[in-house]
Amino acid sequence: MAEIKEEFKKRFGKNPDKIFFSPGRINLIGEHIDYNGGRVMPCAISLGTYLAVSKNTDKALRFHCLNFPETAELHLQNSYSRSGKEWFNYPLGVIDYIIGQDHSISGLDMLFSGNLPIGAGLSSSASIEVLTAYALSQLFQLNIPGLEIALLSKKVENEFIGVNCGIMDQFAVTFGQKDKAILLNCDTLEYELLPIDIGGYVLAIINTNKARTLSDSKYNERFAECGAALKALKKGIDAKHLCDIGIQSFQSHRHLINDPVLEKRALHVIAENFRVAEASKAVKSGKLKEFGQLMYDSHQSLQELYEVSGVELDTIVEFCKNYDDCLGARMTGAGFGGCAIALVRNEKLDDFTRGLTEYYKNKIGYEPTVFASDVGDGVGEVS
Ligand code: GLA
Repeated sequence: MAEIKEEFKKRFGKNPDKIFFSPGRINLIGEHIDYNGGRVMPCAISLGTYLAVSKNTDKALRFHCLNFPETAELHLQNSYSRSGKEWFNYPLGVIDYIIGQDHSISGLDMLFSGNLPIGAGLSSSASIEVLTAYALSQLFQLNIPGLEIALLSKKVENEFIGVNCGIMDQFAVTFGQKDKAILLNCDTLEYELLPIDIGGYVLAIINTNKARTLSDSKYNERFAECGAALKALKKGIDAKHLCDIGIQSFQSHRHLINDPVLEKRALHVIAENFRVAEASKAVKSGKLKEFGQLMYDSHQSLQELYEVSGVELDTIVEFCKNYDDCLGARMTGAGFGGCAIALVRNEKLDDFTRGLTEYYKNKIGYEPTVFASDVGDGVGEVS
């Protein structure tokens, strides 16, 4: 906080009007089913992105960030399009959307700063999108409701950035609450907050530290495959989303798909949705061991059927399975590298970290990063 304030002063020669924070998220279970109308169970974490901001009268949008050297200065106008791959496209997309809704805003001096590993599956992009939308709403008294903030941020990711993501990340980052997981129905957007009581365990986040290449195009490929599988199944089943289909019904109609790859994708989606229902029962009744097993099952399905894991994530989960004081582990987020999560007995975290680091380094050639995560609140102003 002190650093961002000081740096803001250095760069813009004044104090910020306000500072906002938006978290990242982990997903406990329910992977790659948000865009299939399924149920997911994410929670916000205490790491995230800060924005120090003040209005200016010179009609300039100035984008600075402590994590990247690139800056941008744009004149305030009616619409923008994405320029290249730089980080500032995320807040720019949000500003473009808000201006497009006929909200009037002034110029802004913005300094972003994040402590989330970027592009590591912890929703750094949803974090910065929701942060920008929330900040604009507060600064210009736009009164944009939370649900709309989440939805518009998703729209920016889909249309301005070009990734066909579902609503999970933007929703979790907006509505997260300390020590609660969000059980979200991605079709109706109804949700329930589940207290997470993990007793003597911690949720460890393990970053593979693998650079994620091609993740956006692979993600869009899975999105398209699910659409194709649904289209084929609709010849025999009345369903709006893949997750409307039960396992029995899928088994008796899977022949309609006629493509073994698409069949695997659909099976993952339908079974994962079922696992989330089981997992929510386990969380509600404090059955951590059952929950942990469902995490392992989810990972296996993402590895074998959905094929979004990789040797790095699989190595982590393999180590966890053989570690007595770990109840469950799985990749979290889109996959293709990024992070895994694991439920590890509290007092064993150091030993777990040492063992995993050595095991992973021997196999992969470099070290992972392991840290314990707190479940935190959603976006807000920092006082
Ligand atoms: C990314 C997307 C989400 C979701 C996950 C996979 O994080 O942004 O919408 O699809 O991948 O569950």
